[in-house]
Amino acid sequence: MGKLDGKVALVTGAGRGIGRGIALLMAQEGASVLVNDLGASLDGAGIDQGPAATVAREIEDLGGKAAKNTESVADYAAAEAMIQQAVDELGGLDIVVNCAGILRDRMIFNMSYDEWKPVLDVHLKGTFNICRWASVRFREQRYGRIINMTSNSALGAPGQPNYAAAKAGITGLTLTCANGLARYNVTANAIMPSGWTRMIDSIPRMVEQFKDQGKMPSEIAEGTEKDPKHVAPLATFLATEEAAHVNGHLFGSFGYNYVLMSQPKVIKTLRSEHRLSVDELVEWIPKAFSPELEEITSDPGVSQAIEALPDGEWFEVRPGIRYWGSRLEPYGELTW
Ligand SMILES: NC(=O)c1ccc[n+]([C@@H]2O[C@H](COP(=O)([O-])OP(=O)(O)OC[C@H]3O[C@@H](n4cnc5c(N)ncnc54)[C@H](O)[C@@H]3O)[C@@H](O)[C@H]2O)c1
Repeated sequence: MGKLDGKVALVTGAGRGIGRGIALLMAQEGASVLVNDLGASLDGAGIDQGPAATVAREIEDLGGKAAKNTESVADYAAAEAMIQQAVDELGGLDIVVNCAGILRDRMIFNMSYDEWKPVLDVHLKGTFNICRWASVRFREQRYGRIINMTSNSALGAPGQPNYAAAKAGITGLTLTCANGLARYNVTANAIMPSGWTRMIDSIPRMVEQFKDQGKMPSEIAEGTEKDPKHVAPLATFLATEEAAHVNGHLFGSFGYNYVLMSQPKVIKTLRSEHRLSVDELVEWIPKAFSPELEEITSDPGVSQAIEALPDGEWFEVRPGIRYWGSRLEPYGELTW
């Protein structure tokens, strides 16, 4: 028995990388999968029917049921047609996973509108398009699962203003879907994924690091901690009936770590009985909001932060499985 028996999933950008891993695992767990992929190059140019067709075939070879779609998620009408295709060819739609993505990295002061817009179109508009049309069906049938890929880069990656804005937008969109659709038994969650795919091959630091090795990160990731397939179990969990109570959360998948991220919270407030003047703020803001005010926010490295967690703060729940929590007080009192 698979965890997704009888369900139908649409996975966008499923022809490669993280989306491919999710499509394959969801199929192994019993879902019929509509494999969407435009087959674009990393910067969004070009079309290739191959990636979607290959993954659909891989699913069928494993004994699963699949259909392929090679339209762009950035096309509003094509997104509506995708939902209809899932219904017509696979018998319904229960799960959407938004993985389609492109990059056009540039510092803000050099970014052209032609670098800004297509990235927003594929990530933010594309995720909206799929959520928009899927939610009509999910609301009618009183069931649905939305799983959106955001990114660590949304926390402030300096060379990715377009991508960071789109991914931060996807988080807002996901939380809105979670709140707006909860009454219809629909959940929406976002994942900050990771994995050595062609997206990682394009990072200048990686190009430098791998230039003498003859192979790029994506070519050596399989079977290692950097394998993009590691995102798939988390995405698949969020799609299960068992995850009905998990709604409106931001997760991370970093190597063998699955992470629950905090969401912005009030951490300090300065309150007075009148409107404070600028002079008063010059005096009081540093006093009231330090030391957090001095913290550097330009490093978005969640995986580095995980790596830096002290060994002694991890709690071994069973051999090979460890847990760390910021609110983990007396380890011994945890029940699992
Ligand atoms: N790889 C990482 O470490 C990482 C980190 C953070 C976020 N992400 C996000 O995860 C998702 C998957 O990334 P990946 O690393 O697997 O990338 P990838 O380039 O390997 O795969 C993305 C796929 O999306 C497809 N695509 C592009 N534009 C499309 C469109 N308009 N319509 C349909 N399909 C389209 C591409 O053809 C490609 O096959 C993306 O949203 C990415 O932003 C990845």
